[in-house]
Amino acid sequence: MLRQIIVCSLVILSAFYGAEAQNCPRIVTRAQWGARAANTAQLPIRPAPFAVMHHTAGSACATEAACATQMRNIQNFHMNTNGWADIGYNFCVGNDGNAYEGRGWGRQGAHAPPYNNQSVGICIFGTFTSALPSAAALNASRLLITCGVSLGHLRPAYWVIGHRQASATECPGTALFNDIRNWPRFNANPSPV
Ligand SMILES: *[C@@H]1O[C@H](CO)[C@@H](O)[C@H](O)[C@H]1NC(C)=O
Ligand SMILES: *[C@@H]1O[C@H](CO)[C@@H](O)[C@H](O)[C@H]1NC(C)=O
Ligand SMILES: [Zn+2]
Repeated sequence: MLRQIIVCSLVILSAFYGAEAQNCPRIVTRAQWGARAANTAQLPIRPAPFAVMHHTAGSACATEAACATQMRNIQNFHMNTNGWADIGYNFCVGNDGNAYEGRGWGRQGAHAPPYNNQSVGICIFGTFTSALPSAAALNASRLLITCGVSLGHLRPAYWVIGHRQASATECPGTALFNDIRNWPRFNANPSPV
């Protein structure tokens, strides 16, 4: 009897969580990469209408240990040097195909004014002016966006843009930007809602 209840509960649990798991990349939590504690504001405009893509303009990383180190370094730089409340991005993605939780879903980031209060800011570790991220990183980035829609953090009719469409910057790199232009729901002429 007890065994039947346990088996039945497991079936219900996997049915419940199955759809979510299929639509999301693996997300390395703040605790897993060793984030400092931080207090950030809730996104005032939500679900977010925009996903804004960035590169870090630093080096790429292809292992969880190396990407976790970069998350800690970027968080320290954004908090200590820029004086921000936390790492600026909502998520970063590595060439290992993992997504690393920055401010996370539903929080206001510091990455692409005037879209900070209405977007999910996603960076890919590396410099993508002439080279592309790994296929795993591109896949995980695109999955993270549709995952956000499935979880109700991005509008179903969301738009994807590159940071350079928000302000004068090379980010997310010309090679990556040219790839993003072919992603579903790319907006060539965006304006904040
Ligand atoms: C994309 O990522 C998902 C989740 O990690 C994985 O199941 C899938 O195989 C990947 N697809 C490609 C083409 O890499
Ligand atoms: C969002 O940010 C824009 C640009 O900074 C600003 O004009 C707008 O009032 C903000 N909206 C909300 C709801 O905070
Ligand atoms: Zn950027």
